[in-house]
Amino acid sequence: MRVLILGGDGYLGWPTAMHFASQGHDVFTVDNYLRRRIALDTNSEPLISTPNLQERARLFKSVSGRTIDVSIGDCCDYDFLRSVFERCSPDCAIHYAEQPSAPYSMCDYRTARLTLDNNLTATFNVIWAVKDVAPRCHIIKLGTMGEYGTPKIDIEEGWITIEHKGRSDRFLFPRQAGSLYHTTKILDTDLLWFYVRTYGLMVTDLMQGPVYGLRTPEADLDPRLIPNFHYDDIFGTVVNRFVTQAVAGIPLTVYGKGGQTRGYLNLNDTLQCVALAASSPAEPGQLRVLNQFTEQFSVNQLAEQVQRVGTRMGFRVEITPIDNPRKEAEEHYYNPAHSELLKLGLKPHYLTEDVMGEMLETVAAHRQNIDPAKIMPRVRWKN
Ligand SMILES: NC(=O)c1ccc[n+]([C@@H]2O[C@H](COP(=O)([O-])OP(=O)(O)OC[C@H]3O[C@@H](n4cnc5c(N)ncnc54)[C@H](O)[C@@H]3O)[C@@H](O)[C@H]2O)c1
Repeated sequence: MRVLILGGDGYLGWPTAMHFASQGHDVFTVDNYLRRRIALDTNSEPLISTPNLQERARLFKSVSGRTIDVSIGDCCDYDFLRSVFERCSPDCAIHYAEQPSAPYSMCDYRTARLTLDNNLTATFNVIWAVKDVAPRCHIIKLGTMGEYGTPKIDIEEGWITIEHKGRSDRFLFPRQAGSLYHTTKILDTDLLWFYVRTYGLMVTDLMQGPVYGLRTPEADLDPRLIPNFHYDDIFGTVVNRFVTQAVAGIPLTVYGKGGQTRGYLNLNDTLQCVALAASSPAEPGQLRVLNQFTEQFSVNQLAEQVQRVGTRMGFRVEITPIDNPRKEAEEHYYNPAHSELLKLGLKPHYLTEDVMGEMLETVAAHRQNIDPAKIMPRVRWKN
C-alpha cells in the first residue's frame, strides 16, 4: 500500500510510520511541527528530546534500510496538502494531524481558536484532497473515546438505532465532550459523515482511548527512534504523569475522587489497529466507527498500579488527591462496546506490571530531565 501519515512527527505518527515502512509499504509523512512549537511555548517539552522528523527518517533508514518520505508543511494549507496527495496518490491516509491537548484547548481564546481552526481545517482539507485527487483513498481518522463523554447508558461503536413514536432509524451515537479539543473531534466526525454520505468517501473513524508506552519493535532499533514522552499537564497523559511522579518522588496527583474511568491501550495496539483498519478498508459511502481501546481503568486504579510496581522497584510512591482542575464526572457509569477491532484480529497487549515496570525504567534512565514545575495542572476549566 501507499500510506500517507499526516502528523508523522507525533507520538503516534512516528511509530506508525516506522511500523508501516517495516511491513514493506510505501510511507509518506507530513508534519508542520505544531506540537513542538506548542511544547516550547508552554514549557512542556518532552522528557527525552527527539531528532526532528527528517533526521528521524534518515536515522531509521540507516538502521533498517527502509525509506520514510517526509514533507514539512501545514495540512491547513490546501494547496500544499493537495500537492502531497497528487505526488503520493495514497491508498490510505492516516490523519493524526491535530492539536490533541484538552488543557491547551481550554487555556484562553487564542489556544481555543488555534485548536478549533487547526483541527477542523486540517480535517476539511483532507476530505477535499481525497475528494478532488484520490477518491479511492481510505481515510483513517483518529477520533477519541472522549467524544462520547460519560453517558448513563452503554456506549455503542459509533452508531445507535433509535426508536421514536413507533418508527426507528440509525444515527451517530450521541456525543458530549468535556473539552473544546474533544468537541473538535465531534465536529470532525460530523464533517466526515456529511462528505461520506454525499460523495461516497471511504472513512474509518477510530475512537481511541489514551495510549501509553514507548517501546515498539522499530523504536527499539535505536534509542534515538523513541516516541515522544510528555509528562507535563498539557500533553502528558495520566499514565505518563504518574510514572514520572513516581520516579521523581512527587506524590501521584489524582484529580478529585479519581473514579474517572476510561478505556486505555498500548502503543503497539494502536499500531495493530491502524494496520487492521488499513488492510480492510471501509466501503465507499461508509463511515465505519471503531472503539479503539483494550481495557478500562479508573484514575485510582492506575495510581495504585504505579504505586505497587514503583514501590517494588524501590521508589517512594505516595498518592495525594488534588482539586480536579477539569469539569468532569468523578464517579460515573461506563460501559463502552469494543468488539469490532477484536473481530478484525486485534491481539491486545495489556498493561501488566512488567509493562508498567518498563515505563518506570525508561523514565528513571532520564530522571535528570524531570522538571517538577511541568507536572501540576496549570489550566483549570471548572466553574
Ligand atoms: N495519544 C493519545 O493517547 C490519543 C488518544 C486518542 C486520540 N488521539 C488522537 O490521535 C492523533 C495523534 O495524537 P498524538 O498523541 O500522536 O498527538 P501529537 O501531538 O503527538 O501528534 C500530532 C502531530 O500532528 C502534527 N500536526 C498538528 N496539526 C498539524 C497541521 N495542521 N499540519 C501538519 N501537522 C500537524 C503535530 O505537529 C504533531 O506532530 C490526534 O488526532 C489525537 O487527537 C491520541
